Amino acid sequence: MRSQLWTEDDARHYERNHADRFDDAVLGPTVDFLSTLVADAAKGHDPRALELAIGTGRVAMPLHSRGVRVAGIELSEPMVAKLREKATPEEIPVTIGDMSTATGPPPGPGRFHLVYLVYNTISNLLTQDAQVDCFANAARHLHPGGFFVIENFVPDLRRLPPGQGAVPCVLTDDHLNIDTIDTVSQRLMSHHFRRHENGSWSRSESEHRYVWPAELDLMARIAGLELVNRVADWDRSVFDEASGSAVSVWRRLD
Ligand SMILES: C[S@@+](CC[C@H](N)C(=O)[O-])C[C@H]1O[C@@H](n2cnc3c(N)ncnc32)[C@H](O)[C@@H]1O
Repeated sequence: MRSQLWTEDDARHYERNHADRFDDAVLGPTVDFLSTLVADAAKGHDPRALELAIGTGRVAMPLHSRGVRVAGIELSEPMVAKLREKATPEEIPVTIGDMSTATGPPPGPGRFHLVYLVYNTISNLLTQDAQVDCFANAARHLHPGGFFVIENFVPDLRRLPPGQGAVPCVLTDDHLNIDTIDTVSQRLMSHHFRRHENGSWSRSESEHRYVWPAELDLMARIAGLELVNRVADWDRSVFDEASGSAVSVWRRLD
């Protein structure tokens, strides 16, 4: 399997399980960053953006409210069903399909000023080939001079002592998260234990292929994109050796 399918249960609990990501303190700078970029590439024309793995529209909805025409590609029908509670297909059209191969809704390939893939979702593609294909698909949808943006975590392998394969990430009263890591395949399994309102606990897993910023740059280059900028976060803080995440911006060459 090249990536995992998000279920109805995932969709129903998405906002609750990822509440920190819906916070204005996160979404505000995210949407500021993306709307500035798309306006820059659109050069006075109607700004058009394509979100790969659009999910329930966490980012697409506020971007749409800023006057950007947003479309999406998404594998999970239950996630899109949640988006449909907020926006019609005319407002935010979505192609159901794999972001590494599917063609997005009109205006289609070559017409978007911005393609973006946020919240670590490039890592949902579990092989290097699928990630390379995803860059090619993003580039194919971009207008010349348009931007591709990825927000992704930087692998935290310095927390993994020799001989140990697991790293504790979150420990609160209602959430325990441990990642197990295979440094040969670059596969990471994220194990989550969550306590619910009735006191019961549930367990879920998600699998990822972690990827270094330098490897992303090579994928971009293969796809005919050049690096414009890399910052640590949407607030444009400096990316350095201590950064746990990166927001990278590449431009499609003419
Ligand atoms: C962490 S959520 C992010 C959703 C949304 N972009 C956001 O920021 O809230 C990951 C999303 O990626 C989707 N996804 C995973 N693999 C995919 C693929 N190969 N093609 C398209 N969507 C995919 C999942 O169905 C899920 O909706």
